[in-house]
Amino acid sequence: MRFVVTGAAGFIGSNITRRLLDYHSDADVLGIDSFSDYYDPQLKRENLSTLDGRRFRLIEADLNEIDLATELRGVNVIYHEAGQPGVRKSWGSDFELYTNANIRATQRLLEAARTLTNLTRFIYASSSSVYGEAETYPTTETDRPMPRSPYGVTKLAAEHLCSLYASNFGLPTVSLRYFTVYGPGQRPDMAFTRFITAALLGEPITVYGSGEQIREFTYVSDIVEANVLAATAELTPGSVINLSGGSSVSVNEVLKVLERIHGAELVVQRLASVPGDVFRTGGSTASAKDLLGWRPSISLEAGLRAQYDWKKSQLEFGAR
Ligand code: NAD
Ligand code: UGA
Repeated sequence: MRFVVTGAAGFIGSNITRRLLDYHSDADVLGIDSFSDYYDPQLKRENLSTLDGRRFRLIEADLNEIDLATELRGVNVIYHEAGQPGVRKSWGSDFELYTNANIRATQRLLEAARTLTNLTRFIYASSSSVYGEAETYPTTETDRPMPRSPYGVTKLAAEHLCSLYASNFGLPTVSLRYFTVYGPGQRPDMAFTRFITAALLGEPITVYGSGEQIREFTYVSDIVEANVLAATAELTPGSVINLSGGSSVSVNEVLKVLERIHGAELVVQRLASVPGDVFRTGGSTASAKDLLGWRPSISLEAGLRAQYDWKKSQLEFGAR
């Protein structure tokens, strides 16, 4: 089997890549990543460091700048994880980064995918941010998406592109809407990595707004397993599926769990809320269960502890 993982050096892409190589003795994985400088590219190199010498090849390039149809020849499954993430930074002049990485790159990849004769699945890493402040909870895939951030608009646009290529050309796409993903390797701009790092360094934890905002945090290995299932499940081209983690908790509740794990009082600094942040996410997992046979398996406390231990050992080795 030949797989492509775009964004293979990133948090989620590197975990999918490792999983494919660990469990498929016949997997050939082509990773494509531009090593964008949204966060330290050295962290991305470390994500890939254990893959050396395996059936893995890396193209270090921007999806917008290479001949994708040629590079992708013979591929069976595409995991499209590359993108410009981050809800809160997507305003102002940075928006161009989001349109280029999330919309243009996806359109180019879909055009290339149309030319592939052996492609059985195109999996797109969509986002709970497409919902904005949802109409109902738990939110279902047919509820009206109303993004609240420019980032969410670009993720929804790319999702619509996937559905268009499915309906017009029969491309076997599926969009998986990830709900705030965490675990070892989480990006440094995200809440849990920022909270844990601050706790371990004895610095104040910054909370945006009241801390009463709710997320359905999803552990990274659960996201990876859903991706693996999505490669072979029987799905109508253009399907959209929520992947939400089962832990619908507020930021303040997360801090209570973290304080228990850390074993010492946390110092918390409260700042203003940030434009683009929604108050609540929470997704129905009924479709994921019916269509993929998936349900989340890692509890918030176990997952947060694993992320805490990972960050602690990183800091002990001198990283930040
Ligand atoms: P990440 O930044 O760690 O990984 C994305 C990778 O894509 C990076 O390594 C980056 O260098 C690469 N990249 C960006 N633009 C590229 C381009 N034009 N060409 C080639 N490579 C490019 O982010 P992540 O947290 O692993 O997120 C992966 C995907 O999942 C993203 O598409 C993101 O929008 C989506 N997502 C993430 C979350 C989450 O909670 N982490 C939730 C919902 C959706
Ligand atoms: C995350 C990812 O960053 C997006 O790429 C992704 O698309 C999105 O999940 C999603 O689910 O679609 P977010 O929910 O903002 O976005 O994730 P975190 O950075 O973990 O933030 C969670 C909450 O903590 C937010 O309410 C945020 O305001 C808050 N937060 C974050 C703080 O209070 N302090 C911080 O230092 C960081």
